[in-house]
This record gives sequence, C-alpha cells and structure tokens, in this order.
Amino acid sequence: MNSHRLCCALWTFYAIILTRCLHGQTEECRTGMYPPNGPTFKGDVPWYTVDLNEPPVKRWNGVVKDKKNELVAVMQAIKELANSLVHSGRLVDLVDNVLPLMLDTLPYPFNEEIRGIAISSGAPVGEVILFNIFYEVFTVCTSVVAEDTSGNLYHGRNLDFGLLMGWNHKNHSWIITDKLKPLAVNVDFKRNNATVFKSTSFAGYVGMLTGIRPKQFTLTMNERFNFDGGYVGIFEWILGKRDGMWMGFLTRTVLENVTSYEDAKTQLALTKLLAPAYFILGGNQTGQGCVITRTRINALDVWEIDLKLGRWYVLETNYDHWEEPFILDDRRTPAMKCMNKTTQAYISFKTMYDVLSTKPVLNKLTTYTTLMEVSSGKLESFLRDCPDPCSPW
Ligand SMILES: *[C@@H]1O[C@H](CO)[C@@H](O)[C@H](O)[C@H]1NC(C)=O
Ligand SMILES: *[C@@H]1O[C@H](CO)[C@@H](O)[C@H](O)[C@H]1NC(C)=O
Ligand SMILES: *[C@@H]1O[C@H](CO)[C@@H](O)[C@H](O)[C@H]1NC(C)=O
Ligand SMILES: *[C@@H]1O[C@H](CO)[C@@H](O)[C@H](O)[C@H]1NC(C)=O
Ligand SMILES: *[C@@H]1O[C@H](CO)[C@@H](O)[C@H](O)[C@H]1NC(C)=O
Repeated sequence: MNSHRLCCALWTFYAIILTRCLHGQTEECRTGMYPPNGPTFKGDVPWYTVDLNEPPVKRWNGVVKDKKNELVAVMQAIKELANSLVHSGRLVDLVDNVLPLMLDTLPYPFNEEIRGIAISSGAPVGEVILFNIFYEVFTVCTSVVAEDTSGNLYHGRNLDFGLLMGWNHKNHSWIITDKLKPLAVNVDFKRNNATVFKSTSFAGYVGMLTGIRPKQFTLTMNERFNFDGGYVGIFEWILGKRDGMWMGFLTRTVLENVTSYEDAKTQLALTKLLAPAYFILGGNQTGQGCVITRTRINALDVWEIDLKLGRWYVLETNYDHWEEPFILDDRRTPAMKCMNKTTQAYISFKTMYDVLSTKPVLNKLTTYTTLMEVSSGKLESFLRDCPDPCSPW
C-alpha cells in the first residue's frame, strides 16, 4: 500500500467515524412503518424453491440462473477491493489458486452445491468459496425473539453486512452492501414436495443465516467478534486442522435435519465451530427463545426468555449480553428501548418491524429485515435502504 492509498484510506475512515458520531444517536422509536413503505423500503425479496430431492450439484440451478449477473458482479467487486488493499495481487492469487483446493475438504452436500453454483454461474470455484467464507466472519446484525401475551413467538432480524468493505463517497453507501441486496432471496426448501424449512439468504451462499422450520423453531446467527475469530479457524482448515464445523453449515444442517427446539439448542451449543458466533433460537412454546453465546469450542452462556423474571424477549446484536456494547456501536440500547416501549401486549410483525426500522438499529449496512412467526410458519422479508441522515453502522 503506497502513501497516497494509505492517506485516502485514513481520510475515508475519519469521514465514516464522523458520520457515525453525527448520525449514530437514536431517533424516536419508529411507528407506522408496516406494511413496509417509504424511503427505507427498497422492495420485496423474491421467492425460490430448492428441491432437496435433487442432487446437490443441481439444486441451486434455478436460483443461480436468475442471479448469475448479480453474483458475478459482487464477486468482481470483492476482488477489486482485495486488489486495492493488497496491491501485489497476492490475495487474488490465493483465491484463484489455493481456495479451489479447499472444495474437496468441505463436507457433503456443501462441496457438491458449491461446485454446482460455480458450474451454473460460470464463476471460478475459488470465488464461490470466498463468497461462502465471507459470512463466517463479517456479519453484524440485530436479532430478537419475543413472546406475546398468548404465548405466540415472533423472531425478527436485520442482516447488516459489508462493514469496512468499500465506501462509496458519492452517495454515502457501502459498496458490497449495495451489491448484495439484489442477491437476497427467500428460499423454500422442499423434500418430497413438502416444505422442510424456509430461509432468507443470498444467492450463491449455501449456509444459512436466517430460517424457520414451520411449527418447530426459528433460527438466526449473528457474528461474535473475538480475537480467536473466524480467520484463525479458516486458516487452520486450509492447513489441515479440520475438526470444527463451518458456522453456516451448522445452521443449515440444523434447519434441514433437526426437528425440535431442544435438539436444535443442543446441537448449536455443543458442535465445535470454526468461528465464535451468537445463535438466536426461537421454539414453538412459551419460554422457548434463547441467545446462545458461542466460543469455537462450546457455549459460554444460554440466555432464555423468562416470563417470571419479566423477560418476554431476548435481543442480540454483536456483543455478549452481560457486557456493555462497544461505545461506537450501541444498537442494543435503542432496540431494547423500543421493545420495552412496545410492551409484550403489543408485539407483532408490525411493531417488530417498527423496532427494526429505528436508526441506528436500521443503518447503512442493513440489507434486509426478516420477520418470522413459528406457529403459522410465516416468513416475510424486505430489502432495506437507509438514506441520509443515517448511521454507517
Ligand atoms: C450508490 O451508487 C451506486 C452506483 O455508483 C449504486 O449502484 C448504488 O445502488 C447506490 N446506492 C444507494 C444506496 O443509493
Ligand atoms: C411433486 O409434485 C409434482 C406435481 O405437483 C409431481 O409431478 C412430482 O412427481 C412430485 N414429486 C415428488 C417427489 O413427490
Ligand atoms: C440431512 O440428512 C440427510 C439424510 O441423512 C442427508 O442426506 C443430508 O445431507 C443432510 N443435510 C445436511 C445439510 O447435512
Ligand atoms: C412443537 O415442536 C415439537 C417438536 O417438534 C412438536 O412435537 C410439537 O407438536 C410442536 N408443537 C406445536 C404447538 O406446534
Ligand atoms: C428494558 O426492560 C428490561 C426489563 O425490564 C430492562 O432490564 C432494560 O434495562 C430495559 N432497557 C432499556 C434500554 O430500556
């Protein structure tokens, strides 16, 4: 990196921090945002079906056929970003030459699905693998599970992605965040013509960040920043130490093959992982909602809804719930303030969407908002925008 580049990078960084200080304060809790409308609603997320009876190498063909151009565009943008950071082209070299060797080390059916996505999009396997690694390490979000007064459980989330990945000075937006929005898809995963689970995802990604097994449970994942973080686990994987599971593969496996809240909780708490994470899980009965705080090895803490203690919801951003959030990134206090103001008697899709639309819970990294109701099996998701004035994260 030469001094001109370094200088530009620093200026950009200062400008973003300044924007955060100016616009990071909480606004009044939003009301009347649902059904989604206005400048923060960018559009509906389209639905697709993935048939689990199809061979893994073929099952994403329908999605990829429609989203090929957008997928190639985002991978191109990621490559350009990598090139601008590491001028020698070494990073791109790694993607083209080293990552493809990883394909055969990934577990079935993920290896086959990624191979299929590369074939049908025409993109190099290394790039598709990179696209799939991303979410293991860069996902900042807000998730909440809440119980209403009749024992009905709601699960909502904002998926915030693209932090520090290229800032567009012209219109104050994150480059990768912008490019990901057109890739957002709702997927109905079917086996023998019946829905097994539904998910909001990004075309080209085979793990899961947001999903519901109708009548059984709902699940979202948030990134947990830690020094023993995602990079370490992924490098270990490349070097041959492969006893941990990829976070996105675990969530996908749980959604696809686990049939109850209790079993999901056990697997999410006990399976060894490549990266630390928060799993936010909702069940189908009163009291079944929790945030599982994970290290790579085990669960540090399981924090549950407890009506007797007045805890009718659990809410997680990207910090351990027993500690204060990072001072420059407190989305938790505003989100909890608005949940408290809503009260248990009035929680619904409508009011949860209001909470998730209040800045800075909604910010310039927010790609989509998903709302799930386990009892009806309903999953709704909406693309988001956050026009100025708005916090960069
Ligand atoms: C910002 O501008 C780019 C093109 O330069 C465009 O692709 C993107 O959608 C814009 N983002 C927003 C949030 O308006
Ligand atoms: C699914 O339903 C379609 C028609 O609705 C039928 O043609 C197909 O054979 C069914 N597939 C399975 C696996 O049951
Ligand atoms: C779920 O279980 C089926 C049957 O054992 C298996 O074929 C499939 O690969 C599993 N899915 C995942 C994502 O592991
Ligand atoms: C809740 O989930 C369990 C385990 O899958 C299931 O046996 C039960 O019928 C479900 N209850 C409701 C009300 O859907
Ligand atoms: C919300 O209410 C809970 C439970 O009464 C309380 O512990 C928490 O401090 C409140 N948070 C905010 C931000 O109002």
